[in-house]
Amino acid sequence: MSTSSEKKSVVINPTLRLKITAIWNRKGIGAQTLTLESDSAANFEMAKFLLAATLDDDAPVEPGPELAQRLVQLGMLTPEDEEPGPIGYDFGWPQNQDLIPAPNVLNFDATVAPESLVVNPNAHVQHGAGSIPEELRGRVEQASFIGDDDTVLWIVDPGTQVAAPYRVPEKTAETLEALRGKSVPEGDLADLVPSRANTILRSEILRRAHVVVPSDWSESRGKAWEARVRDCRASLERDEFVVIRDLLNPIQLQLMRRYYRAASLAGAFMLDDGQVAKRSWCHNEDVARFVHSQLVDLLNRIVPQPIKASYCYLGLYEPGAVLARHTDRAQCVWNLSVPFDADPETDADTAWPIYLEVRGEARPVRLGIGDGVLYRGTDLPHWRDAQPDGHRTTVCFFHFVDETFEGALT
Ligand SMILES: [Fe+2]
Repeated sequence: MSTSSEKKSVVINPTLRLKITAIWNRKGIGAQTLTLESDSAANFEMAKFLLAATLDDDAPVEPGPELAQRLVQLGMLTPEDEEPGPIGYDFGWPQNQDLIPAPNVLNFDATVAPESLVVNPNAHVQHGAGSIPEELRGRVEQASFIGDDDTVLWIVDPGTQVAAPYRVPEKTAETLEALRGKSVPEGDLADLVPSRANTILRSEILRRAHVVVPSDWSESRGKAWEARVRDCRASLERDEFVVIRDLLNPIQLQLMRRYYRAASLAGAFMLDDGQVAKRSWCHNEDVARFVHSQLVDLLNRIVPQPIKASYCYLGLYEPGAVLARHTDRAQCVWNLSVPFDADPETDADTAWPIYLEVRGEARPVRLGIGDGVLYRGTDLPHWRDAQPDGHRTTVCFFHFVDETFEGALT
């Protein structure tokens, strides 16, 4: 075959071959890939169908019966009830200690006598999606996962001002509300929130979630974080980045880790973001977006100029994933990267490091689950070398811009 282009006649390059790679998620199975080559009529038919089906228009595409059968076997065509996608966030009270980040379990402080505990004076109850308690108005509206029938126990951390929601039975909410700031009746500690867990574990979960706290806790926690904030400001000024440990409550993290693992299995993460192979992603996912809204106050105490949230991005890195050295776009002037999960679990000593380049020097940063590193994503080049075999890490990138920023916030 030949054709003419201006004066010279041209032919199709004999080495030219066509490969089309399809990627898709299967509910309960995970990421699938298939590469089609233009070497058989059947592949040609499938490639034609996939091109038409994934084009951004509404024209219906009907595969022939043989092709349809192959597409169903592969999961490219799927019954509606097996369609991958988002799942609801179950923030019900935990029934066991699975996935509580290990340091929080091992460091459990058993020396506080139960009689010195009170129900957290910063606990608030919400009855249904629309009835946000007065104390939390303007602060928790982004919790879009709360349903009309949910009774929610909110626990606000007096150090970070981060609010954590837990769905509890109505009766429990009433009991806790009546006991707010008061001592827990002897013997009742473990029974405050119904759970199948044993008595010691139930007490531990209550304390870890800060539902019950030592009577001077609010004041001491507030002061401790004031000192930490001062240190963070100094670190940021000195190093151009700062590591902020234990940003999120371990029981909240436990629920989030369960949720994101289930969401991943349900195919809620999109595949291939074009920047990192072996990383699936969610943009402005509901739960991450809510956590984002809770972190603005704390960061505004640390950064030099007032900031607001722009967008957040969840990345699930598979074994072997590499994040190439780069800087971020204008919506990411401030980047707070927080690992939500690591499987197998790692901590501040063993985690897969992110590198930040500060004044020409590569600075490795290892983050435990719920720790964050804050830096100017537009200024400091950052990267990750290949993640070790057998390890998966879910990281949320919370992005912030100056309060005066007028560009798109996505
Ligand atoms: Fe980045």
